Amino acid sequence: MSNLDTFVLTEGSRFLDELKAFLRIPSVSTDPTHAGDCRRAAEWVRDQLKHLGCPKVELLASETHPIVWAEGPEVPGKPTVLIYGHYDVQPPDPLNEWVSPPFEPVVRDGNLYARGATDDKGQVFAAIKAFESVNRGGRPPVNVRFLIEGQEESGSTALFQFLSREPQRTVADAVLVSDTAYYAPKWPSVETGLRGLCYAEITVRTSKTDLHSGLYGGVAPNAHDALVQLLSRLKSPDGKINIPGLYSAVRPPSQAEREGWKKLPFNERKFLREEVQAKALTGLKKFSIFERTWALPTFEIHGIMGGFTGEGAKTVIPAAATAKVSLRLVPNQKEKAVQKQLIRAVKALAPKFADVSVRFLHGADPVIVDITAKPFQLIDRAFKEVEGRGVVPTRSGGSIPVVPALGQKGAPVILAGVGLPDDRLHAPNEKIAVDQFYKGIRVFGRFLQFMGQ
Ligand code: BES
Ligand code: MN
Ligand code: MN
Repeated sequence: MSNLDTFVLTEGSRFLDELKAFLRIPSVSTDPTHAGDCRRAAEWVRDQLKHLGCPKVELLASETHPIVWAEGPEVPGKPTVLIYGHYDVQPPDPLNEWVSPPFEPVVRDGNLYARGATDDKGQVFAAIKAFESVNRGGRPPVNVRFLIEGQEESGSTALFQFLSREPQRTVADAVLVSDTAYYAPKWPSVETGLRGLCYAEITVRTSKTDLHSGLYGGVAPNAHDALVQLLSRLKSPDGKINIPGLYSAVRPPSQAEREGWKKLPFNERKFLREEVQAKALTGLKKFSIFERTWALPTFEIHGIMGGFTGEGAKTVIPAAATAKVSLRLVPNQKEKAVQKQLIRAVKALAPKFADVSVRFLHGADPVIVDITAKPFQLIDRAFKEVEGRGVVPTRSGGSIPVVPALGQKGAPVILAGVGLPDDRLHAPNEKIAVDQFYKGIRVFGRFLQFMGQ
């Protein structure tokens, strides 16, 4: 057993206790009432990194949720690894579906349950503990930089400003991002692509005020009517999105990529029954599940607001209605271009008796990652050693807004998470398998050591 493995074994229960303390901070970045908690989480991470012997530790952009920046001890002549992650989490609701409260982490059956357990506190903390585990005696194998933000779940605004203000800071030989998942248990993967996102609120107004549905029903326009007509026109029942120009930038996956996906173990019925837990799969039937979730855009309705939804009955014709919607984007679509296309389509498809407006909340560009650079071989070796299997290249349907910008600095961006597909991120009863947390520490530790050899 290596020194690293022994250290993780003997210190493991302390690591887990520390992670629980981190998870107790309800750092929900999209909810302004949790701004103080986001700051506390940033300070907690800063204090960790200071305590672990980083000579330079600071909070940036501290007028919003601060970005934690830290530099490990200088190791002359060795490469630099930038570790990116986020301490902010998604809102925990619906609260009554949690078996144990979201911000009171507990272990059940080998899993640690809490909001943020896998996305991303548990995973970024594994990278921090990897640094601790290879930095014994204050001599890490490589130069390590930490960039841990608090707005990933809300669009990374402050981080984008920081990157354009100080592009030099994030220059590195490799960027390690632990914010994704294995393809399947015992199947570590490195993502070769992420989807982007374009999130919007569509509002329709059909009259100045609400109206009595008896006196005016039959003649007055109804805002919900207008909204559902519009929404139903934006996507056909077969899954095709009716936004002119939307598909023209879509770059199909390469032949090699498609062949690789065919070799992945996948059982559609099991996927439907155990993961989706629904009656049937939807979408463009002539494309495979991988293509539909990794390489094609989507249009989803997240919620519809307006009208009367309280207890009992109220006979009213609503004057306004709003839908929260989003599109997932794929290479080579651009968020900005899709925003324009969506506005145009909404204007064209809304019933003429309605006024429509579109407000964009946040988003991300999609990204393709070329995984041929040497550091990818090193992470593969690290997984082989710890997991007994190297990485499989996959894509993911999720988004990490800053990844395209990190990649542009020339360093390979390694998307190598240790989550599992059933971690329920963003949903009730989010968890991380304790074993995956420990494996993550060992894999990232080995990776840092290999980078230094
Ligand atoms: N870590 C996730 C994204 C992810 C999860 C990528 C699993 C690949 C595999 C990230 O925290 C996330 O949830 N991102 C948001 C984007 C944001 C702009 C709200 C998303 O994808 O919805
Ligand atoms: Mn995440
Ligand atoms: Mn997330």
